[in-house]
Amino acid sequence: MRTLIVGIGALGGTIATRAVGAGVPVWLATRTAESARLLQSSGLRVSGIGGAAVASRFHVAALEEYREAEKFDLIVLATKAHDALEIAPFLSTLLTPGGTLLSIQNGGVSQILSDRLGSGVVLGGLSNLGATMVEAGIYEQRNAGHLLIGELAGGLSERAANVARTLSRAIETRVTANLRGAVWAKLLLNCSVTTLGAIAARTMRQYIASSAGKEVFRRTYDEALSVALASGTRPERMIVDPIPPGWQGTSVPGEDYDAWIDQIAAAYGDVKPSMLQDFERRRRTEIDFINGYVAQLGRQIGVPTVMNAAVTGIAHRIEKGQIQPDPARLDDLLRGAEHQGDHPDTC
Ligand SMILES: NC(=O)c1ccc[n+]([C@@H]2O[C@H](COP(=O)([O-])OP(=O)(O)OC[C@H]3O[C@@H](n4cnc5c(N)ncnc54)[C@H](OP(=O)(O)O)[C@@H]3O)[C@@H](O)[C@H]2O)c1
Repeated sequence: MRTLIVGIGALGGTIATRAVGAGVPVWLATRTAESARLLQSSGLRVSGIGGAAVASRFHVAALEEYREAEKFDLIVLATKAHDALEIAPFLSTLLTPGGTLLSIQNGGVSQILSDRLGSGVVLGGLSNLGATMVEAGIYEQRNAGHLLIGELAGGLSERAANVARTLSRAIETRVTANLRGAVWAKLLLNCSVTTLGAIAARTMRQYIASSAGKEVFRRTYDEALSVALASGTRPERMIVDPIPPGWQGTSVPGEDYDAWIDQIAAAYGDVKPSMLQDFERRRRTEIDFINGYVAQLGRQIGVPTVMNAAVTGIAHRIEKGQIQPDPARLDDLLRGAEHQGDHPDTC
C-alpha cells in the first residue's frame, strides 16, 4: 500500500519514523521545502515508549511537490485540524481511485472531512498514542497507545482492515465498528477535562475541587453528551463509562455522580492539558473542532449548548491574548451561562 504521511510533527513524525524503520513504503510530506531539507539532513529519531527507532534514508518533500507524483493508496493526514481541512481537497487528488484518506485529528475533523469529500474517501481515526516533537526530526512517544480507525458510517470494512494491517507494521492500529462512538468518547473528555483545564490553567483534579469548576464540568459534559446522543451516536466506553450514572437527559448530582467524577479524575485528572501548552506557546488551538464543534452541531440539531459556546468564546479570547488562562475563567463561565439561560439561539 503506497502511503503518504502528511504533517511530520509530533504524531506524524513518530508514525513516519517507525514506518520507515519497519520498511513500510511511505513518502513524507512537509509544509515547506525548507522543512523537507531539514529532515533529510537531520534524519528521523523516535525514543520513549515502544522503543527507539531511527530512519536516515526516506522520501520527504514539500506537499506541493507530490502534485505530479505517482498516486497513493493511503494518505495519513497528521496535521492539526485547521490545516487538515484546508489541504484535504488537494490530498484527495493525490489518491488512486478507491484510495483512502485517513484523518487522525481529535474532535469533529474526520466527520467534517467525510461530509465534504465523501465517506468512500475518508476513513476516520483517532490517536490514543501520545507523542511530542523535541525538535524537527526528533520525536518522543509518551505512552503505549494505539491508533483506532474505522468507517464513520459504522461497521467493519475490508479497507479499514487493510489500512490497519499496513500501519500496524509501524504502530499498533486497531479497527472499531463504532468509530463515531470512539471519537465522541474522546471528544467528551477533550471538551471537559482538557479544555476546561486549559482555560483554568489547572489540571482537572485541581479545578474540579472548586464548586465552580465542578459545575462548569457538569454542564459542559452534559451538553456534549446530549449532542452526541441526539445525533444518533453511542459513545464508546474508554476507561470510564461515558454516560454518568442515573443519566436522565442531564446528569444527576449525588454520591454516584461524584464516584464517576473520581474515576475520570483517576484516569485523566493529573495530565497537563495539551491545549494549555498551545496557549502558552501562543499557537492556534483546535477549540473550533472540540467545544466549538459541539456548539455548532448542537445548534444544527436543536440541542442547547450554551456552555460549550461560551467555553469556545473564552478560548478564542485567550488565543488573541485578550485574557489569560486562570481559574477565574470558570467563574466567568458560570456567570455568563446564568445570564444567557438555556436558549440555543444564544450559542
Ligand atoms: N501529538 C499527540 O500526542 C496527539 C495525540 C492525539 C491526537 N493528536 C492530534 O493529531 C493532530 C496532529 O497533532 P501533532 O501534535 O502531531 O501536531 P504538530 O506537532 O503541530 O504537527 C503537525 C505538523 O503538520 C505540519 N503541517 C501543517 N500544514 C501542513 C501542510 N499543508 N502540509 C504538510 N504538513 C503540514 C506542521 O508543519 P509546520 O510546523 O510547518 O506548520 C507540523 O509539522 C492534531 O489534530 C492533534 O489533535 C495528537
